[in-house]
Amino acid sequence: MTDNDDHVGKPAAVGRRQFLKVAGITTGGVLAAPAILKLASVASAADRTNITFASAKFFGKRTVAEMVDVFNQSQSRILVRYDELPPPSASTEVHQGLVQRLAKKDGSPDVFTQDVVWIAEFAGAGWALPLDEYVTADEAGAYFPGVLAACKWQGKLTALPWYVDSGMLYYRKDLVSSPPETWEQLVAAATDLVKAGKVKIGFSWQAKQAEVLICDLVEFVTSNGGSILGDDGKTVHIADDAAVEAVQFMYDTIEKYKISPPDVRSWDEEPSRTPFTGGDVAFLRNWSYVYSICQDKAASSVVDKVGVAPLPHFEGGKSAACLGGYQYGVNASTKNRDASVEFLKWLSSPETQLLFATELGLAPSRPAVFDSAELGKAQPFMQTLKPVFVGATARPVTPKYSQVSLALQSAVSKAVTNGNVADALKEAKTRLEGIVGT
Ligand code: GLC
Repeated sequence: MTDNDDHVGKPAAVGRRQFLKVAGITTGGVLAAPAILKLASVASAADRTNITFASAKFFGKRTVAEMVDVFNQSQSRILVRYDELPPPSASTEVHQGLVQRLAKKDGSPDVFTQDVVWIAEFAGAGWALPLDEYVTADEAGAYFPGVLAACKWQGKLTALPWYVDSGMLYYRKDLVSSPPETWEQLVAAATDLVKAGKVKIGFSWQAKQAEVLICDLVEFVTSNGGSILGDDGKTVHIADDAAVEAVQFMYDTIEKYKISPPDVRSWDEEPSRTPFTGGDVAFLRNWSYVYSICQDKAASSVVDKVGVAPLPHFEGGKSAACLGGYQYGVNASTKNRDASVEFLKWLSSPETQLLFATELGLAPSRPAVFDSAELGKAQPFMQTLKPVFVGATARPVTPKYSQVSLALQSAVSKAVTNGNVADALKEAKTRLEGIVGT
């Protein structure tokens, strides 16, 4: 997702009022104008416990800022001030923004959201408050076990689940009768559709030197039976044959099969998504937020023409989706522990998760919400693809993940640019061994 959220814009006053009503907030007409809303909040600020909440910027039909408004209007004891970071596609910048704030240990922000891949680092650095004493076994049991496990570091719960994300294949169901199951089938179908003049681009994905390249890498490599690290977290497999073949395929989509334009090398999520919703692309690898945009007449020329399926795999391999998603954390240095935990629990509650799912397209991390009739109506593809969400493959779990990612980003970016795949991955292996090896 990028800053370019013109297609959603700021909701009109009536829309906001309806939204707050849907969210269970009685507006009494007072909340119609955002300016009045602001004054109302400031007026009561002195009587409330003020806490800050830093999060990457998410958007769909609604924004995170509006969700914070819902909380602020739902009670009169706590006032949350929202500190907006860049969108999750600018992962390195969001990470930097959080590290700079948390490393000061001055209690700000009180509550934050973190990419699933930073949980180990923030816990290891002592920046994330252990939450075990605030979460009963029953409460913990109400989340998907895989997401809850990803919220733990060395046995302690240091994050609370927000949403689960995974890579998936968007395809034009008006152009193909069924989605390709193998990468080879995708190449064949994409080539035919471009040749027939049905689309300009066969396959859109993200090869920008950014975090998303590692997500795509995990999917290509795992779907060929390979991996980045072994189960011990120390043995490096990125230069093994399965990984080399997979990265070679990434390069080949551009230079050999020509189903992906050279531009994919500078595309992250949104630049890869816009030509698809513009009707120019047959197949797109992306996250779940894209579905609502496809179905939005104001932003998409492919309404009702899009299917979503598990990503293809190589001959003899299995489909793999990279596990994504952001989770909640409380700053270990917060001076407002009770208020922070209360806000955290509201954020992760079933009602709020449902709102994030229907309004922002973020898949719930609670099975009860995931399986609900409301979600089935608003985001039908999520329930159809439940195995993809819950069976996603994690990126390496280590407090040094950021270093691992930057080293891989540089190597894989080089490989998909100059095609010297084996050399680039050999170099990556040496660098990774230096970072995670014993
Ligand atoms: C999505 C995922 C996140 C990932 C990011 C990369 O936001 O949820 O886990 O790191 O994309 O761009």
